Amino acid sequence: MTTRPTLSSRGKGNAQIGDWVGKVWRGDARELLRELPVESVDLVITDPPYFISRNTVIHRAMRPMKYRAARSITLDFGTWDHFVSEADYWRFTRDWLTAVARVIRPGGHLVTFFDQNRVSYLIALAKREGLACRQHLYWVKSNPAPRARKVDFMIALEHAIWFTKEPRSGATFNYQLGQQKNYVLAAVPHHPRLHPTQKPEAVLRVWIAYLSGEGDVVLDPFAGSGSTLCAARDLSRQWVACEREAEYVAVARTRLAQRPCAKPTDRALRSTPSTHGRNSR
Ligand SMILES: C[S@@+](CC[C@H](N)C(=O)[O-])C[C@H]1O[C@@H](n2cnc3c(N)ncnc32)[C@H](O)[C@@H]1O
Repeated sequence: MTTRPTLSSRGKGNAQIGDWVGKVWRGDARELLRELPVESVDLVITDPPYFISRNTVIHRAMRPMKYRAARSITLDFGTWDHFVSEADYWRFTRDWLTAVARVIRPGGHLVTFFDQNRVSYLIALAKREGLACRQHLYWVKSNPAPRARKVDFMIALEHAIWFTKEPRSGATFNYQLGQQKNYVLAAVPHHPRLHPTQKPEAVLRVWIAYLSGEGDVVLDPFAGSGSTLCAARDLSRQWVACEREAEYVAVARTRLAQRPCAKPTDRALRSTPSTHGRNSR
C-alpha cells in the first residue's frame, strides 16, 4: 500500500515532487495529477487509451482452409479502452491533457502514443493547453501481427506526437547523442506479454535519452505494465506514474521490483547530464 503525501506535507515547487517519485500511484490520472506540484515534471511519455476496442471476435476456426486452425481473436483490449461515445473520449483526452500541461515545466516535453486517425484533433487540443506540436514520431514494428482476415496490409507503424510546453527556451534536446531518425525499429514485446498494448522499452529509451537529462523527472500517467518507468530508471531518470487498474499497478510494481536496473548497452544512449537551459532550440 502506497501512502500519498498529504497536502500539508507538500508545498509548491519542484523540490516537493520528491515525495511522489519512484512510485506507481493507483487511481485516475486526471485526479492524481492535480495533486502533483505545478511545473514539476521535465518529460511526460505516455500511451493513453485509444478508444479502438470493439466487441468483435474473429472466429478463425470456422474457416480452417484460410486460417489453418488458428485461434479466435478478440478486438477488445479491456474495459479501460471503453468510452460511451466519441464525445466522451474527447472529454477524457482534453482533461488529461489539461492535467499533464499543468505539471510539465516550461520547455518540458510530452510524447504520447495516439491513434493515427485522430492525431489532428489531439494536436488542436494540446495547442490550447500551451503544448506546441514539434514532430510526429514512429515506432516501426519489426514483427507486425499478421492480419486476422488476410485481406489488408499488416500494421507495422505506431504513431506518437512530440509536444513542448511554451515557452520553449530551456527545452532539452541532447543533440550530442547524434542525429536520430524520427522512427525507432523494435519488436512487439511478447513471451510473456505483460499488457495487451505493451510498448517496447527500446523505443522509450531513445525518446527519454534525447528529451531529458540524468536526474530529470519522467511521468507516465497511463503506466500499464510500467514500460516507461523501466526505461526511465535504466537511464538514471527519476520517474512517477499513475495507473487506474489494480491488476496493472501490481504488474508494474512487480516488474520494477524484480528486474534489476539494467544500464542500456546501446552506447549512443549512455548517460546524459541534466540539461536544463542547454542544448535548446
Ligand atoms: C495503452 S495502456 C498503456 C500500456 C503501457 N504503455 C505498457 O507498455 O504497458 C493504457 C493504460 O492506461 C490505464 N488507464 C486508463 N484510464 C486511466 C485513467 N483515467 N487514469 C489512469 N490510468 C488509466 C489503463 O488501465 C491501461 O493500463
